[in-house]
Amino acid sequence: MSELTKLMKERRSIRKFKPDEVPRELIDAVIEAGEYAASGHGKQASRIIAVTNKEMRDRIADENRRIGGWQEGFDPFYGAPVILLVIADKEVPTAVYDGSLTIGNMLLKAHELGLGSIWIHRAKEEMESSFGAELLKAVGLDGEFIGVGHVALGWTDGENPPVIPRKEGRVFYID
Ligand SMILES: Cc1cc2nc3c(=O)[nH]c(=O)nc-3n(C[C@H](O)[C@H](O)[C@H](O)COP(=O)(O)O)c2cc1C
Repeated sequence: MSELTKLMKERRSIRKFKPDEVPRELIDAVIEAGEYAASGHGKQASRIIAVTNKEMRDRIADENRRIGGWQEGFDPFYGAPVILLVIADKEVPTAVYDGSLTIGNMLLKAHELGLGSIWIHRAKEEMESSFGAELLKAVGLDGEFIGVGHVALGWTDGENPPVIPRKEGRVFYID
């Protein structure tokens, strides 16, 4: 089995993170993998907002928790110290697809680097709120962006979950 195939099969969503800091070069390597994702018409419509600032990280987590309808105290990012928020240019018809592939690349790269990660939803609602506008302003982004998703990133607390066998009957051939 090739190294890439092994990574794809063994990557799992992590739902318990250590609070320990992730070195910047590892975060940047994950981000770079996201930047190299294929994109519709090569427009590279996705943007990545990397949040390591604890106060902002907690604010995003709280917004996400409220949108998800969970009670105070629940952290939808499972304690991950890094949030990579992926948004995409609303003007581009493939915005959500581009952003999704960006996230997929980052999840795989995180696993290759020995980091834990998970896709966390509700970025769309976040970006539609006044909080989203505040986030864009904080990084100096102009224009309209759709929230695609977040990668929660950090060091896994515990073991990597086992590989889950794939469901039968999902593939069809027309020869
Ligand atoms: C579009 C998308 C949204 C997701 N949103 C969340 C989420 O908000 N919270 C969460 O705990 N997991 C979320 N996940 C992770 C999935 O639950 C997980 O990928 C799935 O159970 C399969 O497990 P695996 O990633 O370990 O293979 C999301 C995954 C995808 C692809």
